[in-house]
Amino acid sequence: MDGSDEALEDAVLDVSGESAGETGLDSSSPFFVSKKAAAVLKHGILKQYVVPFASKVGRYAPDGRVVYLDGYAGPGRYEDGTPGSPALILDEAARIADFRRLDCYFVEKQRKSYGSLATLVGEAQRKGVSAHALKGKVEIHLEQVLERAKGAPLFAFLDPFGLGVSYDALTNQIFGSRRGSTGRHATEILLNFNANAVRRIGGYLNSSKDFPGKNATLEAMDAACGGPWWRDEFRNSADNVEAVRRITNEFAKRVGKAVGASSWQIAVRNRAHHQVAYYLLYFTRHLDGAWLFGEAVSLAQVEWRRALLPPPENGMLFSAADTFDEEEQQREKEWVVAIRRNIQKLQRDIGSFKIDDHLPQVMSGVLGEARQKHIRAAVKELYREGKTGCNGVGDVRKLRITGA
Ligand SMILES: C[S@@+](CC[C@H](N)C(=O)[O-])C[C@H]1O[C@@H](n2cnc3c(N)ncnc32)[C@H](O)[C@@H]1O
Repeated sequence: MDGSDEALEDAVLDVSGESAGETGLDSSSPFFVSKKAAAVLKHGILKQYVVPFASKVGRYAPDGRVVYLDGYAGPGRYEDGTPGSPALILDEAARIADFRRLDCYFVEKQRKSYGSLATLVGEAQRKGVSAHALKGKVEIHLEQVLERAKGAPLFAFLDPFGLGVSYDALTNQIFGSRRGSTGRHATEILLNFNANAVRRIGGYLNSSKDFPGKNATLEAMDAACGGPWWRDEFRNSADNVEAVRRITNEFAKRVGKAVGASSWQIAVRNRAHHQVAYYLLYFTRHLDGAWLFGEAVSLAQVEWRRALLPPPENGMLFSAADTFDEEEQQREKEWVVAIRRNIQKLQRDIGSFKIDDHLPQVMSGVLGEARQKHIRAAVKELYREGKTGCNGVGDVRKLRITGA
């Protein structure tokens, strides 16, 4: 799979999420007091994905060492004790320590947040986890972390409140310094591309008012996007929704093309009916990564839907939680129906094919929703009905769909 894999690049996993605001908040900010239901999605993806990634690519790495960078780490935990991304990953690193060394680098620029982070990292170090808390801007520490990551797979989680590292840092510095697509050279990024920042900064273009910092902010957006191209996209859009959509698409496409990676976009909202707060953009150079990531997103979404359930009301005979499992089952049935349809279309269009070669087509419409088990269920149904000779047993990716 490479950057030309249009269907996969264009896949938009449209799910709800949190709004982080845009400025550099420290650990005293309300954002870090308690975890919003929507952060369940972001953290769910991390939790579901980092270990499978490390397990897979760490096999080819010297000493099974895999480097994890959290460039915008925050304090590590919310004030109520719920794990933020650092606490979550440190737990995972401890869990897999027997067979993988997850070498973790956490960067945080705010003094107070860094203090909490350093305490957490210190505790993990004492338990034998390989972890480092770095104080200051990620831009300053990036070179050093990349140096340490030489010869090892790297997963970078970049989760700023507003604009993140520059396009140049992303493409030339991170991906560009690391050749090869698999094993010890594997390089993947999960990036928070902030829609609020796009709307706010794009708004400057239509404002005739001059104010201090206006040009600097517009130039910072140019640097984040890899040029002023986004300005025309913004001006040529009918509204903010279209502008954010176009700029995110184009950004993902440009990064993917520049580094030979495919990308997935997950639209993150406060609530299903809210505007997008940010996109989680995932970049990988390997098809295995895309499959694993799809599983992680699907599982994280189940957690997220559960987290959004309203609290039970006093005196109510039934709560939403009572019907949750039934609704999930219904969803799964619908995914299987969609996958069946996709498989049958492929049978008509190209005849016999291997699932692995057609991930975007097989999962069309349910990408990031459904998982491999739903593909298997669809194949088994078709087999039972005599519509394929493939019985659906074995590694799903290796299944070869034949005619009846
Ligand atoms: C959205 S929060 C991170 C939340 C954390 N990733 C989590 O999921 O628990 C962004 C953090 O990045 C920090 N930050 C902002 N700019 C930074 C920079 N240039 N380098 C490092 N940290 C930065 C902020 O202080 C803030 O704590």
